[in-house]
Amino acid sequence: MCNLKRLTAVLTAAALSLAMSVTAFSADADTGFADVAADAWYADAVIYCCDNGLMRGTGDTIFSPDSNMTRAMLATVLYRLSGSPSLENENLGYPFVDVPGDSWYADGVYWARMTGVVDGYGDNRFGPSDPVTREQLATLLWRCAGSSDAASGNIFADESDISSWAASAVDWAQANGFVNGVGDNRFLPAGTATRAQVAAILMRYTQSQEESAPEPEGGRDVLVAYFSATGNTENIAEHLETALNADLYEIVPEVPYTDEDLNYSNSDCRSNQEQNDSAARPAISGGVENMGDYEVIFLGYPIWWGDAPKIISSFLESYDFAGKTIVPFCTSGSSSIGESAEALRALASDAVWLDGQRFSGNDTLETVEQWLDSLGLR
Ligand SMILES: Cc1cc2nc3c(=O)[nH]c(=O)nc-3n(C[C@H](O)[C@H](O)[C@H](O)COP(=O)(O)O)c2cc1C
Repeated sequence: MCNLKRLTAVLTAAALSLAMSVTAFSADADTGFADVAADAWYADAVIYCCDNGLMRGTGDTIFSPDSNMTRAMLATVLYRLSGSPSLENENLGYPFVDVPGDSWYADGVYWARMTGVVDGYGDNRFGPSDPVTREQLATLLWRCAGSSDAASGNIFADESDISSWAASAVDWAQANGFVNGVGDNRFLPAGTATRAQVAAILMRYTQSQEESAPEPEGGRDVLVAYFSATGNTENIAEHLETALNADLYEIVPEVPYTDEDLNYSNSDCRSNQEQNDSAARPAISGGVENMGDYEVIFLGYPIWWGDAPKIISSFLESYDFAGKTIVPFCTSGSSSIGESAEALRALASDAVWLDGQRFSGNDTLETVEQWLDSLGLR
């Protein structure tokens, strides 16, 4: 009886402690980590760094925000920040006696040593488990970013404590707003950096890089111009925009087409009248301001009675396409692009016209990408 009571008590205690530990380690729904509250000052940074593959938890639901960042962790994070370049063809003679080649941080440390981002301690040791100091953190990030000079204009109260090898890096990190002083405008160069602080600095740094990155080439040179009365051609145009990182321009009629206008079973409907009139040039609302910037124009339209709608003629006659490449595409119920594109060529004969392609209105991004690949245009 006594034993049964004890057993019951032990089981109850075990169940309770299990329940408590489950509570203690259950992840915060917003951050994914039990030890990162959604309203913590570093929560956004932790989520950002994890979402972008720069940092990971120290356990399934644990981030350890207050733990020191070690030198091995930082080398690994900077390696990821640089895109984890392949080391396959490198001669992986690991340069430090305390960095085993099969350790989780070996590639990061090797890469960082090879690119000059880290130094060892001078006795063939790297000190992978040693905490990173704040001045080391600034220095490694600065080297990763190309070691450019930037005067901060602000002198930390403990400026004289900053090691000479870290001075330029701390200036740069401060001038760019990546590091802040602690109370009394002190930098605490030898103080250790926590994982939460590193996440915050990495987020500031990475976001500043994204903001200053030049616009990708395709965003300026390629235009996807289209007319779409019922949305099918628009769907394909948007796939092209995505696949090519192109600019998108909708050819909008000054007078929109109503359902009645498009009711081609009525021989008098507006669309039928226009298609039967070789001189019809429906007016376009607005225009492309910087047509001169584009080298390649994808031109999309629905097939109307085997041809492009006349508003496409209006578009082609509105600009100088000399020397530009035009790639026609269309959607239709079943007709091929056929002669519709042939007929358009005469309206911009100075352009280089590529063969066009017909799509269904619901074709996928993958289908559109396959076409682009077949043209060698991606
Ligand atoms: C006036 C008119 C004429 C059409 N003529 C044809 C045709 O000749 N062949 C065909 O396959 N589809 C024809 N269609 C169907 C459209 O080409 C097809 O629905 C197209 O995907 C619509 O594209 P949108 O949604 O971008 O306007 C016609 C549609 C209209 C409104």
